[in-house]
Amino acid sequence: MQTWETMHWADGCLEILDQTLLPDQIEYIKCRDYNTVCQAIRRLSVRGAPAIGAAAAYGLVLGAAALQTDDGREFIAGVERIAGDLVATRPTAVNLQWAVDRMLRVLPHSIGDGIGDSIGDTIGDSPAAVKEKLLAEAQAIYREDLEGNRRMGQFGAELIPPEAAILTHCNAGALATAGIGTALGVIRAAHQAGKKISVYADETRPLLQGARLTAWEMRQEGIPVTLITDNMAGYLMARGMADLVIVGADRIAANGDVANKIGTYGVAVLAKEHGLPFYVAAPLSTIDFNLSSGRDIPIEERDAAEVTGFAGRMVAPEGVNVWNPAFDVTPARLVTAIITDRGVVYPPYSESLALLRANSESLKRR
Ligand code: MRU
Repeated sequence: MQTWETMHWADGCLEILDQTLLPDQIEYIKCRDYNTVCQAIRRLSVRGAPAIGAAAAYGLVLGAAALQTDDGREFIAGVERIAGDLVATRPTAVNLQWAVDRMLRVLPHSIGDGIGDSIGDTIGDSPAAVKEKLLAEAQAIYREDLEGNRRMGQFGAELIPPEAAILTHCNAGALATAGIGTALGVIRAAHQAGKKISVYADETRPLLQGARLTAWEMRQEGIPVTLITDNMAGYLMARGMADLVIVGADRIAANGDVANKIGTYGVAVLAKEHGLPFYVAAPLSTIDFNLSSGRDIPIEERDAAEVTGFAGRMVAPEGVNVWNPAFDVTPARLVTAIITDRGVVYPPYSESLALLRANSESLKRR
């Protein structure tokens, strides 16, 4: 049973489960200012696209709360500066930008009034009132992600056969979201529906999100899990030991190209070679309709030390050249279906994703 929460907001403080310490220790970082949230995102204490988005939303609440001014123009400039700092923490997962943009729409100037005039004068919102609205919006983002996970689980579970060995890469579970997870949410829902599910978890070099986090989550849930190193996935498939693959996503372009944890692309190519379905589970907030293809997705490159060493010990010669992209892009042609919180979509994704967006916007307007 899950006894922890990825993050928790109470009394003006965001508590973030420090995922760098898992599975050894369950410790929370108390964030009382937005810089602590920025730091937690940068060092992957909180990670996974939807979780980063929700944490950043609360980060903006903390940053705005600390602004002392009564001057509307100054207040808005301060909030926008904090928003910029939060968005700059990690570039690939679009949920971060999406959540911060959504928070900024709460600011009065987005209604179309003059910045300075709009607070206090034009629409009657003082900085204090805007601070409350920002908190309500962050809570809505968190709650909607939680509910979206549940729906995604239901939609996705229908694609899973009554008995299935599922390969997953990285951690797209409860730790990466506000709810039961995206890829692991589908796996949880299928398991709860009585399907005979077993999971193969890629360890996910270099930071071992699969070994440390996915294996931990699945064991707590009582779902059989077998850990493999990343380079075993091909042989696993060749031996007929996996029936399908499900992964999460950090950003999906309008044509269905998927950025996800480094190594995902290789798994997708292998799935194609072995005739296995390759599913991606992600909420609508992970789809970047501004990008026509995956070519334009910014890919984070992280510190060489993540590759040259582990747990504080060097495993490579001092001074060796390192390339450490944290994500890769899987072309849409390798993706069997995308499981979203609004339903499952199939190729051609340029059309099916656009339709999904149009339908969800018309639902919102009703
Ligand atoms: O670097 P991370 O751990 O933040 O990368 C996370 C992933 O790549 C996940 O698969 C993705 O964010 C989906 S999480 C629901």
